[in-house]
Amino acid sequence: MLKAEAPALLPVYAQMPVRPSRGRGSWLIDEDGREWLDAYGGHAVATTGHSHPDVVRAVAEQAEALLFYSTAVPHPLREELAETLAALCPQPLGRIFFCNSGAEANENALHLARRHTGRGTIVSLRGGWHGRTAATLACTDGAPYEAAARRAGVPLSRKVAFDDVAALEKAVDDSVAAVIVEPVQGFAGARDCSPNFLRSAREICDARGAALLFDEVQCGIGRCGAFSAAESFGVTPDLLTFAKGLAAGLPIGAVVATPALVESLAPGDLGSTFGGGPVPCAAALANIAVIERDDLIGNAVRMGEYLTEGARKLGVTRVSGRGLLLGLHLERPAVEVQHALFSHQILTGTATDPRVLRLLPPLSFSSRECDLLLAGLQEVLR
Ligand SMILES: Cc1ncc(COP(=O)(O)O)c(C=O)c1O
Repeated sequence: MLKAEAPALLPVYAQMPVRPSRGRGSWLIDEDGREWLDAYGGHAVATTGHSHPDVVRAVAEQAEALLFYSTAVPHPLREELAETLAALCPQPLGRIFFCNSGAEANENALHLARRHTGRGTIVSLRGGWHGRTAATLACTDGAPYEAAARRAGVPLSRKVAFDDVAALEKAVDDSVAAVIVEPVQGFAGARDCSPNFLRSAREICDARGAALLFDEVQCGIGRCGAFSAAESFGVTPDLLTFAKGLAAGLPIGAVVATPALVESLAPGDLGSTFGGGPVPCAAALANIAVIERDDLIGNAVRMGEYLTEGARKLGVTRVSGRGLLLGLHLERPAVEVQHALFSHQILTGTATDPRVLRLLPPLSFSSRECDLLLAGLQEVLR
């Protein structure tokens, strides 16, 4: 079912059996003109759906005006996007650094935490997934990632059990620079932390002088009940990272920090040639405007509830996650269900938990699209 890519490409990605040539909303159209329902959302990237006309227009206009200039010069769209993000994040989060990906955002956030505290140790959670740069691999859970970080000579994070306040309390001492947490773990299978765990993490970090870092690369940008998961849980970290869904398909990452975390920064302390380039910033601004105008955060909450209820009616006893980052806990390997759904032209995700089918569709997913997904699931699960 999964096809290999061209031999000139490194064989590092398992391939879904679709070659998309066009996309609209929650749908991909393949080279043979067949339509595929995308409940994987291009891996949580297509927040406003595929090729939203407002995003496409903003990209085309900005590309025509100025494709790129580096961060060596100011650009109004970079400034506007920073102000927009600052206004959408819980206060006092409001100082922004732009880069190009989730891993790069986390790498820079970890760097800021270490710089601010003068400490080195990072605490992360079992099941956490933070990227593939050396420092982010070191705090990602899983033997191959830890082995890669060890080969790179990067000290591994202290891993604590998921959602375990006592374990966190024990792990955070005065050598700890940061605790990095996905409020809703993506790869682990859409596992949402309890609000109590996140509140306790805030208190523990405050008491020990460590920074609290929320990795919202997958669960942020309106996916989990508010623009930031931090807001939906009512807990404000010192650092927060976004990427994937920020510009609905153009590469961009953002570190959002409190003023205290970045007070001593000077030119040259961080950097990225492409970070906050005009075209991804134009895409992100148009994307955010659509999310707000069309109440896509409200839609994600409603459709998340609808899918959860529908899945329960199909006999799925446990659904984890929030909004439109959901994990369906199945009684058989999720990969079998994912592959069976391919024959219904439906894309879904799997997780490191082999029994969890992960749903992360566009925030614009409609009730009709939910019904189509549930009908496909009903066929496959019977
Ligand atoms: C929670 C989380 N953090 C970080 C990353 C890394 O993002 P990127 O692939 O853009 O580097 C991912 C990617 O899946 C992710 O899900």
